[in-house]
Amino acid sequence: MKKVLFVCLGNICRSPMAEFIFKDMVKRAGLEKDFYIESAATSDEEWGNDVYPMAKQKLYEEGIPFAKRRARQMTRADYDKFDLICAMDLSNLRNIDRITGGDPDGKVSLLLDWAGEHRSISDPWYTRDFDAAYNDIVRGCEALLEKIR
Ligand code: 4NP
Repeated sequence: MKKVLFVCLGNICRSPMAEFIFKDMVKRAGLEKDFYIESAATSDEEWGNDVYPMAKQKLYEEGIPFAKRRARQMTRADYDKFDLICAMDLSNLRNIDRITGGDPDGKVSLLLDWAGEHRSISDPWYTRDFDAAYNDIVRGCEALLEKIR
C-alpha cells in the first residue's frame, strides 16, 4: 500500500484536482487496493472549504469523479503517515519543509519532477486557466503512477 499526499497552498484547486485525477487513474489501472490518496494545504486560509467551483467544473468536464470535501492544512504527522508527498509548486516545497522540519526520508517531491520537468504546476488561482493546470497535473500524475506502480 502506497500512501500519497498531494499538497498545494490552499487545498481547494490544484491538490484536490491531483487527488481526484490520481484516484481515477489508479482505479482505471485496477490498483485501487494498492493506494491511499489524499490532499492537503500548506496554509490554513481555506480551512474547511470545498473544492473551488472552477476546479470542480474542469473535473466534471473531464469525467473525473469528485466528492465534497473540506480543505485542511498538512501537519507534521502527515509526514510520518504518507510515503510520498507531492508538491504542486516550488513555494509549496519551502512551506512543506517548514511544517515537517526537513525530509530525512526523501518523501517530498515536486509533482512535475516525476515527468522530468523541474517546474511548478500552472497556478489557476492566478491564471484562471484550469485547462493548463489540469494538463500539467495529468502529466505529473501519469509519470508518478508509471514510476511507482
Ligand atoms: P490552490 O489555489 O493552492 O491550488 O488550492 C489557491 C487557493 C487559494 C489561494 C491561493 C491559491 N489564496 O490565496 O487564498
